[in-house]
Amino acid sequence: MPRSQSTNHRWRAIAARADTPGVPAREAARPGAERAAGSPAAVNLKRPSEPPPGRRPVIEFRGVSMRYPTGDVGLDQATFAIDREEFVFLVGPTGSGKSTVMRLLIKELEPTEGRIRVAGRELHEIPRKRVPYFRRNLGVVYQDFKLLPNRTVYDNVAYALQVTGGTRREIRAKVPDILRLTGLATKLHNYPDQLSGGEQQRVSIARAFVNHPPLLLADEPTGNVDPNTSIDIMRLLYRINRTGTTVLVATHDNAMVDKMRRRVLELRDGRIVRDEAAGLYARDESTREFARRMRSTGERPDGV
Ligand SMILES: Nc1ncnc2c1ncn2[C@@H]1O[C@H](COP(=O)(O)OP(=O)(O)OP(=O)(O)O)[C@@H](O)[C@H]1O
Ligand SMILES: [Mg+2]
Repeated sequence: MPRSQSTNHRWRAIAARADTPGVPAREAARPGAERAAGSPAAVNLKRPSEPPPGRRPVIEFRGVSMRYPTGDVGLDQATFAIDREEFVFLVGPTGSGKSTVMRLLIKELEPTEGRIRVAGRELHEIPRKRVPYFRRNLGVVYQDFKLLPNRTVYDNVAYALQVTGGTRREIRAKVPDILRLTGLATKLHNYPDQLSGGEQQRVSIARAFVNHPPLLLADEPTGNVDPNTSIDIMRLLYRINRTGTTVLVATHDNAMVDKMRRRVLELRDGRIVRDEAAGLYARDESTREFARRMRSTGERPDGV
């Protein structure tokens, strides 16, 4: 499916299910420990009276500060915007505020100052009980995978659909598809402890993407895998980005960032200190071309 068609379809689908009744009651509560952390939980990002989301950034931070109750500064007057279909790296030393950005975006934290919009929607206007609906539009991937240890690969992914009100039919149709896309078709019945780190991360990406959310957030997705597997994970995220999903990746992996040649936002002490447009790369580089470039030894920096 061409990228624009699939993206438009997805935004329409999101608008249509904004107020879908019948979302399981447990989802209406604050997500519990059982909820798959990367599951696209659920509010409509778009209001019918507003212009289509393509005309405005997917993510807007305006003068956002986050001061934790302990007095620590997580973010200090951060202002940036990310457009639809962009692939953006968020880099910076430990403690610079990368995870704080992610946690603000999923409304796990409320900023102490400034405004955050996601697809035009002011996050502070979303009432607590609607947060699970909002989260349906986000896929989240973590460094430590956060898989449910007592469920198989298939069930980990199916669970993400179940908690957001997916029907059995939907689950039967979507789960095998996403597991094929992520290269896990032969691992359906394995439990997380029967998988390599890279495979576990692919399950967590499958789970985050099974609902085809328009925005995917990944916090150090390659932090626990070896350099070669990191390339596979980035390739998968790139493939997802090419379906029209906006992707924001927080990482320490400078070598990977250099190779990817995408836009880079750098944080230091909670401040945005660099916003560098994508380097030299063809905007429509195919996944295969991308993989070839990433693996080409000539270009590979030390350690990758
Ligand atoms: N729950 C919290 N309570 C108090 N301070 C916090 C909390 N979470 C983060 N911080 C502080 O906020 C700052 C930013 O932390 P954050 O986790 O966003 O950094 P990070 O860039 O993700 O770091 P890392 O690369 O180590 O993951 C740090 O000074 C950190 O100590
Ligand atoms: Mg972090």
